[in-house]
Amino acid sequence: MISISLDQARSFIEPASWQKAREQARDAYQSLIDRNCTGNEWLGWIDLLEQPNDAMVSRIDETAISIRKHADVFIVCGIGGSYLGAKACIEALRPYFDESSPEIIFAGHQLSGSYLESLIEYLERPNADGEPKSVFLNVISKSGTTLETALSFRILRNWMEDHYEDEADQRIIVTTSEEGGALNQVREQHDYQKFVLADDVGGRFSVLTPVGLLPAAVAGLDIQTLYYGAISAFEAYQKDPSAILDHAATRKALYDDGKAIDLIACFEPKLKALGGWLQQLLGESEGKDGKGLYPALAGYTTDLHSLGQWVQEGPRNIMETFIDVELPISTLSVPQDADNADKLNYTAGEKMDEINRTALQGTRQAHVEGGVPAITVHLPKLNAQHVGQFITHFELFTAVYCLMLGVNPFNQPGVEAYKKEIYRLLGRPE
Ligand code: PA5
Repeated sequence: MISISLDQARSFIEPASWQKAREQARDAYQSLIDRNCTGNEWLGWIDLLEQPNDAMVSRIDETAISIRKHADVFIVCGIGGSYLGAKACIEALRPYFDESSPEIIFAGHQLSGSYLESLIEYLERPNADGEPKSVFLNVISKSGTTLETALSFRILRNWMEDHYEDEADQRIIVTTSEEGGALNQVREQHDYQKFVLADDVGGRFSVLTPVGLLPAAVAGLDIQTLYYGAISAFEAYQKDPSAILDHAATRKALYDDGKAIDLIACFEPKLKALGGWLQQLLGESEGKDGKGLYPALAGYTTDLHSLGQWVQEGPRNIMETFIDVELPISTLSVPQDADNADKLNYTAGEKMDEINRTALQGTRQAHVEGGVPAITVHLPKLNAQHVGQFITHFELFTAVYCLMLGVNPFNQPGVEAYKKEIYRLLGRPE
């Protein structure tokens, strides 16, 4: 089971403040479990943890098996909660430089014409064996109206129709709400396979639905283990929620004490997208009504050579959340060198991942001594089960933390403001 270390954060907090926050956390958690909290119309993600939906997982697996058989490239077209969870799981659990088929490519997560043009050029280039690429496309949008996704889908759909003609519909899978939205209207004119995202599951809480699980399964991940890993954590927290409550109380007490930034720090590049998923989950959930820590993201040790100075000696309004993997992910170790001209023989025989973990411990200690409280989330091993547990932990944690803050964890009213301005400038009819 994943675990959380709080000592290097609690040492910064007065016991009375922590006790007060801990009581708030208990009440917030109870209101979530009793389903009488703010935003209780969006608790479908808890249902998925409480009553495992095997039929959903089986249907996703069956669809993924068929796509994997035929696809060279699988495009995931979505933004925000409609792609970050899939990206997080795939990057964490697939090998680097993976050449196994299908290749997963993300689109619809920005408005770059250059990106889409290059993507289409790439799709048109034949495989190494001279055969044309076999492309499948999963468009994911709960609202079915998000500009970035809708525009990209229109362009990619046109390409698919030109390229595959009558066969295009069999290569497009739509993940959206049961009804409503322009995407459902487009689908009415086609024969696309559809997966439904229930109305009571918000985008950023949707990774354990077809939104996250279909791309993950197509990428070859074991989604049963991922999903049941998530459920195992939920069952554990139902018996004893103290890890969630202590974590939420610690972060809230730090916030009350004036911390403004929570820097999510990963030392394993595979975890950067998981950190990105967490950044969105926290940012879109807590940043409301003038409240909330700003969730920032750092990929150490790379970013120690850019942000490290700021973290060590900049304004002391920052805390860090480290993501730690306890067991080495790879067996690669440092070779002995007879000349030792580079003076590195003191590391000879050490696994690179152990050195990386030592770097985490050393950096965290230096930052704590520099006045930056540190919370550490430990995954015993980087596998589907523990990534699933990580997802459950942070979904529950985020909900509890936001309720303590007095904001609705599940809406995002602020996102509408910039959309309105873009639509006005583009001249969208009312
Ligand atoms: O978490 C959220 O709800 C958002 O980030 C959405 O996922 C994002 O805005 C995309 O929305 P949609 O799925 O409606 O295209």
